[in-house]
Amino acid sequence: MTPITDIDHTKSKTTHEVLRLIPYSIFAIGIGSDEAVSTALIASWVMQCSFNPPRVAVAIRKDSNSHQLMSEENRFTVNLLSKHQTDLARILVKPHDRDEEKMTHVPHTLNAAGVPVIKEALAYLDCQTVDTVDAGDHSIFIGEVLESHQIDDGDVLTCDQIGWTYAG
Ligand SMILES: Cc1cc2nc3c(=O)[nH]c(=O)nc-3n(C[C@H](O)[C@H](O)[C@H](O)COP(=O)(O)O)c2cc1C
Repeated sequence: MTPITDIDHTKSKTTHEVLRLIPYSIFAIGIGSDEAVSTALIASWVMQCSFNPPRVAVAIRKDSNSHQLMSEENRFTVNLLSKHQTDLARILVKPHDRDEEKMTHVPHTLNAAGVPVIKEALAYLDCQTVDTVDAGDHSIFIGEVLESHQIDDGDVLTCDQIGWTYAG
């Protein structure tokens, strides 16, 4: 494609590099319907996608254990982790195949629908999946926010703080 001539492109980067400039935070997505069928993973590709009704979009990679569970269950939680929860993030980022017991190391409780809520998260959204969109190597799960709770004050954990990148 021809570059726009009245913009200085001398600092031009690859698509991979430009996509990595988008700032992200670290969320824990809880999925399940009871203790036996419950898990959580770290996700950054989370955003609000509707004011009314309040909805969020979460992109989940198709090759993950979480994707299968998200497709089977219709409820999930979006847990906003605090900047002090880096140890917990390191546990939840592990693939299920490498640590099937990862939830046993993570202080959590189940909401009324049996979906994990991370204790000591700053806040969480209780969501019901209303649509799923095929986005390529991820699916976007659109969740309607049924309830939301703030548990604590503080700053959310960002990718910059923990030094992780998931983009590009
Ligand atoms: C900073 C960061 C952000 C991530 N964001 C996402 C995301 O938005 N969606 C996703 O599916 N995986 C994301 N991942 C990868 C998952 O956390 C990882 O594949 C995890 O092991 C999946 O867990 P599971 O095997 O229990 O499904 C991210 C990883 C990191 C390090």
